[in-house]
This record gives sequence, C-alpha cells and structure tokens, in this order.
Amino acid sequence: MISNRLKRIASYVSNEDRLIDIGCDHALLDIYLVKNKILDKVIVSDVHEGALNAGVSNIKKEKLSKKIETRLGNGMEVLSDKDDINTVLISGMGTTTILDILNNNYLKNINKLIIQSNNDHTELRIEVTKLGYIVKDEEYLVDMGKNYIIIVFEKGNKKYTKDELRYGPILIKDKAYLNFELNQCIKIKNFIPTNKVILKFRLNKEIRHLKKLIKRCGE
Ligand SMILES: C[S@@+](CC[C@H](N)C(=O)[O-])C[C@H]1O[C@@H](n2cnc3c(N)ncnc32)[C@H](O)[C@@H]1O
Repeated sequence: MISNRLKRIASYVSNEDRLIDIGCDHALLDIYLVKNKILDKVIVSDVHEGALNAGVSNIKKEKLSKKIETRLGNGMEVLSDKDDINTVLISGMGTTTILDILNNNYLKNINKLIIQSNNDHTELRIEVTKLGYIVKDEEYLVDMGKNYIIIVFEKGNKKYTKDELRYGPILIKDKAYLNFELNQCIKIKNFIPTNKVILKFRLNKEIRHLKKLIKRCGE
C-alpha cells in the first residue's frame, strides 16, 4: 500500500516518460509505477546508502530488480549521456535541495519535471521557470493531515505574474488551496505580538487579497 501523496505524484507519470526518481528512499513510488504498468523500467537514486538500501530491499522483495535500476549518488550526477532520461521526479525534499539537484548539465535533456517540494513553492516556480520550463500542472492535496503541493513543469517559456508565481498559475483558481493559504495567514497573524505593526499590516493585506481570489473562484 502506498500513500495517497505518492499515488497522486504517480498520476503525473505517463508511459512516454523515461524517468529517474531522485531521492527514492524506499522506492515505493517506483515499485507502484512498474507494478501498475505505468512504466516498464525506471532508474532510482539516493545520496544516502541506508536510504537506497531500503529501496533495494523493497525492489528485491517484489522481484523487480531487472526493471528498477538503483544508483547511489548525488542528484543528477548519477546520470551520463548514455542514459536516455527525459523526466526527473523529485519528492519529499525542500526547495533548496531540489534547486541544487536541478543545477546540473544533464538538465538540458529533461523535458518534464514532477516535483513535490516540502516548502517554498514560490521560490521553486521562480527558479524553475527561469531554467526554461512552464508550469504544466499543479495539485494541492491533504494526506494524513499534511498539506502537499505537486508541480509538473515542462520545457517552455512563459511570463508569469507575481500572483501566479506566488500561488501557482493553476492553484490560484483552486478554492481549497486558497482557503488553506488564508487559514495559514490568519493563524500566523493571531500568533504575532500587537507591536509588530508592519508584519500585521502585510498579513492583513495578504488576507484581503486571498479573500478576493477566493471570491473570484466562486463566480
Ligand atoms: C524524505 S525522503 C523522500 C523519499 C521519497 N522520494 C518520498 O517522496 O517519499 C528524501 C530522500 O532524498 C534523499 N536525498 C536528499 N538529497 C539528495 C540528493 N542531493 N541526491 C539524491 N538523493 C537525495 C534523502 O537521502 C532521502 O532518502
């Protein structure tokens, strides 16, 4: 059984993708992809031997060693030009680590990025679109009480507004996501001491803006 988060990430993989899952850890996502015939084969990697060994052991248990190739190493450094990879999947890491991983020459071969970052999605959109990608798909989901955002990027060029980079060009129309952001702002605002006037002002401004965006969704 895999989590709903991993299932939703898997739903963005198509059988045309020649995929590497970087930071695979347990490799449960990759086992799911192969067992469900979404992919015939996949490369998985992790920088930590212990984490990769967990994946190797799960792959062996499922007798999928011929279809799921494991590599130990840092980010895209495990790839060479012999590997015909066109899609990178990275999930369960922070934006800084993800951007470090993408800062690699192999990226020129990559048409599609499936990313579930744990934080700072604005920074992720800003930096990945600068690398020559557009936001193709986005999803907000709650799994076991935790909030997640999945973003799929594809090669392309598009100018995004400040709001689209902040909330996501697709998520900006998602009422559930905007309500989550609104509740976060309200929670933070209630926590801030009254003498932090500028911070309170900024939060009030964002709250008003989010309420407007939410109203627009309902129209
Ligand atoms: C929290 S786990 C996420 C596992 C899985 N992708 C998921 O979404 O459930 C993050 C994994 O990324 C690996 N990792 C972190 N930085 C990495 C890097 N630069 N290159 C490869 N793997 C990395 C860690 O060792 C860890 O196993």
